[in-house]
Amino acid sequence: MKNKERRPAQRPAAGGYGKARQPEQRSSGTAASASHAKQQPYKPVPSVEKTPAAAAGDQQARTLIVREGDRPAERVPLILESAAAGDFHLIDSGDGLKLEQYGPYRIVRPEAQALWPKALPQHVWDRADAVFTGDTDEDGMGRWRFQREALGETWPLNVLGVDFLGRFTAFRHVGVFPEQIAHWAWMKAQIEAAKRPLKVLNLFGYTGVASLVAAAAGAEVTHVDASKKAIGWARENQALSRLEKAPIRWICDDAMKFIQREERRGHRYDIILTDPPKFGRGPAGEVWHLFEHLPVMLDVCRELLAPDARGVVLTAYSIRASFYSIHELMRETMRGAGGLVESGELVIREGGLDGKTPQRVLSTSLFSRWVPQ
Ligand SMILES: C[S@@+](CC[C@H](N)C(=O)[O-])C[C@H]1O[C@@H](n2cnc3c(N)ncnc32)[C@H](O)[C@@H]1O
Repeated sequence: MKNKERRPAQRPAAGGYGKARQPEQRSSGTAASASHAKQQPYKPVPSVEKTPAAAAGDQQARTLIVREGDRPAERVPLILESAAAGDFHLIDSGDGLKLEQYGPYRIVRPEAQALWPKALPQHVWDRADAVFTGDTDEDGMGRWRFQREALGETWPLNVLGVDFLGRFTAFRHVGVFPEQIAHWAWMKAQIEAAKRPLKVLNLFGYTGVASLVAAAAGAEVTHVDASKKAIGWARENQALSRLEKAPIRWICDDAMKFIQREERRGHRYDIILTDPPKFGRGPAGEVWHLFEHLPVMLDVCRELLAPDARGVVLTAYSIRASFYSIHELMRETMRGAGGLVESGELVIREGGLDGKTPQRVLSTSLFSRWVPQ
């Protein structure tokens, strides 16, 4: 799936991604923007270098909007725990590894945060079906070692009632990030409780499991990912989950470019999920650099919120930061919108061999979520 982590030769400026908005272009009427919309001149972010895409004349800088009003209320820390869900559970972890159950298969993968010793005996680990070995530098399936017999590239899985394919990918991933189940369960509850079809925007959507959970619950979904391959896998999952007729737009594009286009078109969403990598590339080589671009991304996402929006969910992983950094960013971005920002970590609890014996907790990522309360 992965856009490998590459450091761009030139670091783009904060706010230097996309087209500049003039004050008179400010959208009106969104729940999130209505209350903050005091006419203030823009405070342009000092211009530094542009992203390669912008430098190539692709787009000009989209600056941050000056937000007014109070910051939303806060709830911190919030630890969202995904325990056994559907075909997945974390069996054990330790010694820099984790042992997971994905449907019929037991899989061993590296897990740098598992500093503690394994709880289960080594012979249990030795009986795993697949072990990911080596680093993530090379493409190809050679990095998986199948202990007993060679396994196919994919196998069926089900999470939150949605069928999709588990997949041995070259980048140690297996086609789903189960820690996200906590967010997906929240989203599903929002969609099911709404008395109208909610519009969901899933940025960096990968194999589409979140998009399918949303569609199965009755939402109209826009799924964006830069990888053609990932979009292809997502479409396969759509067929497998018998949701071919569900209203899902599959969009292969750079997430930042796409949301800015949506902003100009005046499109609005009720729920926005964004799960950006630290570094990534759009289909035309656009550079995504979380520390540089996240403030503008969230700023645009706020403009995309519908008047009766149900939330914005941001996850961040593989970065050296506290959840407070995305929490305070979310609160600043949502100034004047009311509601609540809740932030913390997504964790998975070991469930033992049967998935029902709660043990230690593995942290996977940071998150921040704005909800209207
Ligand atoms: C960790 S995955 C997201 C996982 C997903 N939220 C889930 O739980 O299934 C990151 C995704 O971001 C995509 N990506 C990376 N850079 C991108 C960009 N500039 N625009 C859009 N998608 C990008 C990758 O192709 C990859 O599928």
